[in-house]
Amino acid sequence: MSFEFIIVDKQVAPFVGLIQLNRPKELNALNLQLMGEIKDALLAFDEDENIRAIVITGNERAFAAGADIKQMAGRTAIDMLKIDQFSTWDSIRKTKKPIIAAVSGFALGGGCELCMLCDMIVASETAQFGQPEINIGVMPGAGGTQRLTRAVGKARAMEMVLTGNFISAEEAREAGLINKVVPVQLYLDEAIKLGQKIAEKSPIAVQMAKESVLKAFDTGLQEGLFFERKNFYMLFATEDQKEGMAAFVEKRKPEFKNK
Ligand code: CAA
Repeated sequence: MSFEFIIVDKQVAPFVGLIQLNRPKELNALNLQLMGEIKDALLAFDEDENIRAIVITGNERAFAAGADIKQMAGRTAIDMLKIDQFSTWDSIRKTKKPIIAAVSGFALGGGCELCMLCDMIVASETAQFGQPEINIGVMPGAGGTQRLTRAVGKARAMEMVLTGNFISAEEAREAGLINKVVPVQLYLDEAIKLGQKIAEKSPIAVQMAKESVLKAFDTGLQEGLFFERKNFYMLFATEDQKEGMAAFVEKRKPEFKNK
């Protein structure tokens, strides 16, 4: 598979795959092709037995400065409906393996929304998160009013969406939007390390745990608890459950086989 706007590394660390957004001059503005490439790379990673966790990153200056305004500027509402550019995002959301965003610099508009599609976010001290669509006469269209509100609460989300103000990495961490803030030299390494830690676990258990946590956003408590319980019981069909529990009893490190 060859790509124009992303760089893919299938083994940036054992069992960890990396996708780097690579339109640096445009601050990684997310045009249709770039989003399609991310979708295709994630699909390939999901099917690759040698990948158990995925990191998505940009560069030091920008994770991504949003959807490509120049590509959208002249479109009509009917064009937007027909092209339905955000349907690609639904496929990205369906990735089964855990995705960690490693963010430095701007994560704005669609860039902030892409981080929020990921399962965890590690940021450099220089990262800035924002939904500035209001400044260009529109509003967030790929989750910025929904995922941001769930992550940081109504007051802060409303302020970010209505004023277009950015928040710093530290503010984002305090608000619960991101996991960790580290010096700029370390953000990618830290994200990869987090991926490696997850990659040591049983991949089937990781997949079902991810699915269960995400279910919390889509459903009420009782249904969510029922879903979680079924997934928990289902894991007793795996060899990894037998191995994990036996290793605990025998006081040794488990060797998970994804079976
Ligand atoms: N789309 C297209 N091009 C973009 C872009 C975007 N979202 N963001 C930056 N660029 C381009 C600039 O046009 C510029 O290109 P040229 O050199 O050809 O002029 C280049 O990237 C560098 O940007 P700047 O010169 O503006 O850099 P700066 O450091 O002065 O400012 C910035 C950085 C504050 C991020 C500024 O570029 C900016 O405000 N960008 C737009 C942010 C934005 O509004 N994002 C939301 C987009 S809409 C959206 O995302 C909808 C949705 O919900 C999915």
